[in-house]
Amino acid sequence: MNSATSEVERDQARPTHGTARMKAIVQESYGANPEAVVRYAEIDRPTPGEDEVLVRVEAASVDMGTVHLMTGLPYPVRMAGFGLRSPKSSNPGRCLAGTVESTGSNVTAFQPGEPVYGTCSNSFAEYAVVKAGRLAPAPANLTPQQAAAAPISGVTALQAVRKAGVQAGEKVLVIGASGGVGSFAVQIARAYGAQVSGVCRTSKVAMVQELGAEQVFDYTRDDYLDGSIRYDVIIDTGGNSPLSKLRRTLTADGRLVIVGAESTSLWFATLTRTFKALAISPFVKQRLTGLVSSENGRDLTTLAGLIEAGGVMPAIDRTYPLREAGAAIRYVQEGRAQGKVVITVAG
Ligand SMILES: NC(=O)c1ccc[n+]([C@@H]2O[C@H](COP(=O)([O-])OP(=O)(O)OC[C@H]3O[C@@H](n4cnc5c(N)ncnc54)[C@H](OP(=O)(O)O)[C@@H]3O)[C@@H](O)[C@H]2O)c1
Repeated sequence: MNSATSEVERDQARPTHGTARMKAIVQESYGANPEAVVRYAEIDRPTPGEDEVLVRVEAASVDMGTVHLMTGLPYPVRMAGFGLRSPKSSNPGRCLAGTVESTGSNVTAFQPGEPVYGTCSNSFAEYAVVKAGRLAPAPANLTPQQAAAAPISGVTALQAVRKAGVQAGEKVLVIGASGGVGSFAVQIARAYGAQVSGVCRTSKVAMVQELGAEQVFDYTRDDYLDGSIRYDVIIDTGGNSPLSKLRRTLTADGRLVIVGAESTSLWFATLTRTFKALAISPFVKQRLTGLVSSENGRDLTTLAGLIEAGGVMPAIDRTYPLREAGAAIRYVQEGRAQGKVVITVAG
């Protein structure tokens, strides 16, 4: 018997007083070791509030946000309302796809049985409660696993491309093109008619070429910020490149959108670069900015339209069953994923 099974059996032994139960991942404390911090358990099924929808989850996905919620790092994550000493949410899952089970009394936009995708707290579970405004009909041409990969990474990429004002024919560089956000950004910028180049490590070059990038730089070998090629737009999702180098790789009136980057700093390391960009931007011809993505149904619907039109497809590296969510998180945490990692919940 493995430890995950024994946890489930221990939880199953607790009295339920008639409350419907479900399998779920549970996280009670912050920590860096997924296998130690999250466990597979049986817990009470949640009930939706009046503006919420109860979704029967078919698949969920992992992204860097999941890792931050698991570790509670950098510390500003805790101050953003996710719990100062321990996580407020019962698990770090934020994306899902599934079918509507029931709706709160104020919800008229969704009906039981409808396939949906969106963002919420606690998506690593058989059922999850989602605010109606963070849900949309799932793209008709995707499996639940594919749809679950899209909500946070896809919408963030869409908002970055839009914030950069990408136009047809422009040259766009996506730094971190093999990542969750970057793999969508490459495809969405192409769907807007741009000529897209991407940056990733050696082992992921072929994958980024398959996404449609015309030129792919290997950041372990190429100095892609030497200014020899100028871009109208840079979408930066990885690597923490200095602002001065990013600026010399932009055209005179180019636009930079800093989405984020990982760092070992416990505090504001990656935000410092964004603050610097915002401070410089009013005094130069280039437009330098950051992004705080907004999780909303309107952009999920726009993304679904792009996906259904055929130009954008979630790039899925691996799928894991729910009870192996810890291994799925570790795979993303270690930077091994090519595109997205999905957790299959139903079936
Ligand atoms: N602003 C927002 O609202 C928002 C929303 C979502 C995410 N984010 C943040 O955005 C970042 C990306 O998220 P994600 O989910 O896409 O993460 P991810 O899947 O881990 O992707 C990270 C990307 O960065 C690349 N990278 C790593 N080191 C690099 C280097 N030295 N030079 C160039 N590229 C490098 C990786 O390339 P390889 O894998 O090939 O090494 C990968 O393509 C994270 O920091 C996340 O927290 C911000």
